Amino acid sequence: MQIILQRVQSTVDRSSGRRAESAVASPASRDPQTAADQPNAGERPAVPPQVNGDQLTIRPRINGEQRSLAVTPGTTLLTALREHASLTAAKEGCGQGDCGSCVVIMNGRPVNSCLVLAAEADGAEITTLEGLADGERLHPLQEEFCRRWSFQCGYCTPGMVMSCFALLAANPDPTEAEVREAVEGNLCRCTNYRPIIEATMAAASRLSSDHGPAAPTIDSASPPVACEGRG
Ligand code: FES
Ligand code: FES
Repeated sequence: MQIILQRVQSTVDRSSGRRAESAVASPASRDPQTAADQPNAGERPAVPPQVNGDQLTIRPRINGEQRSLAVTPGTTLLTALREHASLTAAKEGCGQGDCGSCVVIMNGRPVNSCLVLAAEADGAEITTLEGLADGERLHPLQEEFCRRWSFQCGYCTPGMVMSCFALLAANPDPTEAEVREAVEGNLCRCTNYRPIIEATMAAASRLSSDHGPAAPTIDSASPPVACEGRG
């Protein structure tokens, strides 16, 4: 167990150094100030994960739902999400913290989930791309990505959206330079980033006019946008 906890600590240090410092609200509470006050925000759980043979049982709260996942000590958060929680939006690209395709929100901060051990997520609040929409209704940021064709192959898009979501939660009125900075850890081989930046700026404008500058939230005023391929 000591080895596991040492590895957890080392992983957290690497992952926290990779992403922006913004704090992000969970879907249940998208107010960044409220999120900062949440239990576990930026803290390790007081009780270590349950160990059963070579399996750990972790209990993160994912997209507002309490989950119990059996993983091995070396399982990453990305693998836990994709293979144990059936949440496949976050993608593995490089697997070493360079591409950003695996970005999710953990305890209010964007992290490269390929660099976080699942054990570290025990008791954590996790938000993935699947947690942004309200049923069939996409989050305004997702809608703007669709409207402006801010993707081609789409492999980078879940991580890109989560990085932009984190930015808007922390900074509802970003400059273009701040959007560029927010996605500098997200690699996209298909677009030239221009439609991504435009979509994020448009979403910021919508969110500010619809809800005030406090926080991104589900936009219930406009009709849902279907995000389909070009056909
Ligand atoms: Fe995690 Fe590339 S897969 S940063
Ligand atoms: Fe293909 Fe970004 S849309 S890598």
